Amino acid sequence: MTLLQATDVGKHFGGVIALSRFSLTIEPGDLLGLIGPNGAGKTTAFNVITGVLRPSEGHIAFDGRDVTRASPERRARLGMVRTFQNIRLFDDLTVRQNVMAGAHAAASASPVESVLGLPRGRAAERRIRAIADAMIERTALEPFAGQTAGALSYGDRRRVEIARALAGAPRLLLLDEPAAGMNDSEKHALSALIDSLNREDGLTIVLVEHNITMVAALCRRLVVMNKGEVIAEGAAADVLRQPEVREVYLGRRRPQGEAAAC
Ligand SMILES: Nc1ncnc2c1ncn2[C@@H]1O[C@H](COP(=O)(O)OP(=O)(O)OP(=O)(O)O)[C@@H](O)[C@H]1O
Ligand SMILES: [Mg+2]
Repeated sequence: MTLLQATDVGKHFGGVIALSRFSLTIEPGDLLGLIGPNGAGKTTAFNVITGVLRPSEGHIAFDGRDVTRASPERRARLGMVRTFQNIRLFDDLTVRQNVMAGAHAAASASPVESVLGLPRGRAAERRIRAIADAMIERTALEPFAGQTAGALSYGDRRRVEIARALAGAPRLLLLDEPAAGMNDSEKHALSALIDSLNREDGLTIVLVEHNITMVAALCRRLVVMNKGEVIAEGAAADVLRQPEVREVYLGRRRPQGEAAAC
């Protein structure tokens, strides 16, 4: 069954049309690249899909359920988890505490039970810590687990965002420019992590990323947006060859990486 179906979604900010008749279908197991120049509407699409923004029109269905009006928290509990283009961490909390916050979103005991140290809360807290530690290991953040998030480099902070998202037990992971600000070796490690989450763990992923080399290497399918609309969709190599796709990148911020591809 289709995991996510966005149908004819529109989003206006006053006179600005950020999304127009935007439709997207994601099947379980997909690793889909959502690309397009600055201001194309990629982050707005994520915001509408995850419930951060209410669409002006259209519908969003997740796992066969209409979630158009569901809160971001409810969508997260259903398994729709994202990272943010502008990193959103608790800078004064440790890396482990930040990742545990992600696990809380999917846990059965309420944070109140945990904070009050009630038995059910204590057991849940142990479980949450174990989940967080597993995700910290998966993202190679063990050396930083006890450090405050604010003290980490930009690239490491991006990895904490991903670890926190993974701790939320996603069925659909939406990554908004996860490689922004990373150096080459960090990008390489990130690509390997995304690939293994998809291939080995079967996690369904949507990747918004300006680095075309990375997107083309990772994603089998691409959706290209421009001015709030989908302008191309299909197998990565085919899409990157299309004249309209090449044109939207020329004269604007060039995609990083293999600029010759566009
Ligand atoms: N909260 C907002 N209020 C007003 N306009 C907005 C708001 N959010 C986005 N926009 C506008 O909507 C359009 C799409 O923006 P969006 O951030 O979705 O693009 P993007 O594809 O994510 O770009 P980038 O690659 O730079 O992150 C832009 O014209 C932007 O200025
Ligand atoms: Mg964006």
